[in-house]
Amino acid sequence: MTEITHIPASEDRVAHQAANIAYWDEAAQAHRASYQSDAWIKQPGQIGDSAPATDRPLLAPFLPGGTVEGLDLLHLQCHIGTDSIAWAKLGAQVTAVDRSAEALQVGQELARLGGVNVEFIESSIEEAAVPLEGRQFDIVYTSVGVLPWLPELGEWGRLIAQTLRPGGIFYIREGHPMAFALDDHAPAGELRLGYPYFNAAPIIDDCEVDYSGAKVEHGLTYCWNHSLSEIMGALWSAGLTIIDFQERLSLDWKLLPWMEQTPAGKEVLPEELQSYCPLEFVLVARK
Ligand SMILES: C[S@@+](CC[C@H](N)C(=O)[O-])C[C@H]1O[C@@H](n2cnc3c(N)ncnc32)[C@H](O)[C@@H]1O
Repeated sequence: MTEITHIPASEDRVAHQAANIAYWDEAAQAHRASYQSDAWIKQPGQIGDSAPATDRPLLAPFLPGGTVEGLDLLHLQCHIGTDSIAWAKLGAQVTAVDRSAEALQVGQELARLGGVNVEFIESSIEEAAVPLEGRQFDIVYTSVGVLPWLPELGEWGRLIAQTLRPGGIFYIREGHPMAFALDDHAPAGELRLGYPYFNAAPIIDDCEVDYSGAKVEHGLTYCWNHSLSEIMGALWSAGLTIIDFQERLSLDWKLLPWMEQTPAGKEVLPEELQSYCPLEFVLVARK
């Protein structure tokens, strides 16, 4: 008789997180090369094609004076710190959190290279309330490939509410959960569902080459799709007020192999398909 061993959910969670950490730790050095950020980081005043280059004008209407200059900014899931450094170059005082020690080490080297000061904190989102206790910021920022790495969003929403000053602004630009549900193995030109839209179960991937083109040995990862109601619900239940929401037609990376690149380096669907599916959303909330 075959015995089936049921692994309790908490043990699953530990195994999933261990696999994800192994991937991000390994990818950190490779991403330093594939992100091609060393060049702009060394140049005073430059922020290259970092995410803040897109986010700066979208965030500006919600800031006093339209700038991050002189403001305290908390960057969640900062990876190798390129976006944290870009915000620091734009004049913000930046604190950046990520769980990958290897990624933060690269971030520290890049910040030194750029001659800017970024405070890096090694912590998971789920545990960051402790190292950030008593700290408050004018802006909490996170972007591009962050939410799918979190199994659930309750702690995430509470962390954002805890770390914002009253009146402070939360900003996220992220892949749209509808786009994350698309089948990346479907033939070119075919929009078909391949993954759950709702957060039903982890989405397992095992790649040899990752989204940035980096070759990896620890390519087994676990991700979770979060519906719009789950994302907004996590922020509402933490006491934040959503003040802007946009659905957009481009992404920063090639989610489907047949996406087309714009002259600005963004990835889009062929024109005739663009009205069928949003690719990205921007959400701004106030405490
Ligand atoms: C795609 S990267 C960050 C996106 C950023 N825009 C970039 O490309 O530089 C995702 C990051 O989330 C971090 N991460 C994953 N799960 C996390 C968690 N539970 N807590 C904190 N950081 C986490 C990973 O270590 C990784 O650095």
